Amino acid sequence: MMIDTHCHLDEYENIDEIIKHMGNNIIIVSGVDDKTNKQVIELINKYPNIYGVIGIHPEEIDNINSNSFKIIEENINNPKIVGIGEIGLDYHFIKDNKIKQQEIFIKQIELANKYKKTIVIHSRDSINDTYNILKKYLNTKAVIHCYSSSLEMAHKFIKLNIKLGIGGVVTFKNSKILKEVVENISLDNLLLETDSPYLSPEPLRGKINEPYNIIYVAKKIAKLKNISLEEVLNRTTVNAIEQFDLPIEL
Ligand code: NI
Repeated sequence: MMIDTHCHLDEYENIDEIIKHMGNNIIIVSGVDDKTNKQVIELINKYPNIYGVIGIHPEEIDNINSNSFKIIEENINNPKIVGIGEIGLDYHFIKDNKIKQQEIFIKQIELANKYKKTIVIHSRDSINDTYNILKKYLNTKAVIHCYSSSLEMAHKFIKLNIKLGIGGVVTFKNSKILKEVVENISLDNLLLETDSPYLSPEPLRGKINEPYNIIYVAKKIAKLKNISLEEVLNRTTVNAIEQFDLPIEL
């Protein structure tokens, strides 16, 4: 079995086909705002092998209102909602609302802890602030989605018991630092993800990504760690089940 722990499924025209391609494998779909959070709820109700996380992405915080948190809280106890995400900090394009981003991030961390849910973190050009906030919430179950920072930083997150989501970037020729992270961090701390429809792995780079393509991410991790593909799939599946409390028996 394999589990794509992070993707977005709101833009596909052939969604049935994409999900069918995953067979009995598991998908955790992520919302980013009111509209996509509602779509996550629809998807988990429709497809047995799809679970969801809902939350407000840092790039969407100007489009939210008090109802946005209500949507999250009203659905958080749905057994197929397994976390709050994707949430976090993004200083890449927008730098003038850092404080507001941090407030919304913290509010959602507190919400996750209140309901004992895992958080899925987006961090772009903001890794130090992300770390400093998480350090204050030590009992939070968390995944850094599409981890792309240094090995040193990876060790710091792992000390906080935070898992790292590894996606298609690890297959890219220029991803030297991420390869170093994967080689040196125990498989126990890694999760597989695609971030579909973005970040297609080699050899499909440039095409629309889909959850099934985590097989390429898994193959690359197996190669980098010099272990079997089966070991990568088995271990990361167990990690995902534990991290998101998925009601799945192997
Ligand atoms: Ni994402």
